[in-house]
Amino acid sequence: MTQMASLLGEHDAGTLRHSWRVARLARTMAAQAGAPAAVRQAAGLAGLLHDVGKLTVPTALINKPAALSEAEARVMDGHTLSGARMVRSFAPPDILHVVAHHHDRFDEWPSLPWLTRLVSVADSYDALVSDRPYRAGCSPVAAVQELRRVADAQLDGTLVDLLLATLGVPHRLNAAA
Ligand SMILES: [Fe+2]
Repeated sequence: MTQMASLLGEHDAGTLRHSWRVARLARTMAAQAGAPAAVRQAAGLAGLLHDVGKLTVPTALINKPAALSEAEARVMDGHTLSGARMVRSFAPPDILHVVAHHHDRFDEWPSLPWLTRLVSVADSYDALVSDRPYRAGCSPVAAVQELRRVADAQLDGTLVDLLLATLGVPHRLNAAA
C-alpha cells in the first residue's frame, strides 16, 4: 500500500507531504485516545492513503493558485470515489471507508466510523495550517478556533476535543470559560 503513496508523491509531492502529516497526527490522536496498536497503525495507514485518489486529479488543478471553478471542483471532489476504486481490492474495509468518506459531514452522517471521523479531523487541521497555492496557512491558534467552530457540524466534536488534547490546547467546552 505504501507503493501507492510513492506514486502519489511522484504525482504531487505536496499531497504526499500532507498525507504523511495527517498520518502522523491521526496516529498520535489514536494513541492519545488509548487505542490499541492495531487501531493506531490503521490510523496511520488511513492518513497516508486518504487522498490517494488525487492521483487522478491533474496537478495543475491541485496546485491552481486560485479558487476552483464549479467544473474543476467536481473533478477535485471526485478524488474520494476514484481513491476508493484504487484501493478497494486490497485495503481493509476501515481504510477503504476513510478513503471514500473523509470529506463527509458528521452532522449529515453521525454514524460514520470512528476512524473516518478521526482522519477527517486530522486532515482538516493540516489543511488549515498548511500553505495552499492560493493562500498562506493559518496559525495553529486560528486553526483551532476554526475547528471549534465546525465541531458537532462538519466534524465530530468529541474528536475535535481529542485533537485539542493531542495538541495540548484547552478543551473546547472549557475554552469559553
Ligand atoms: Fe481528501
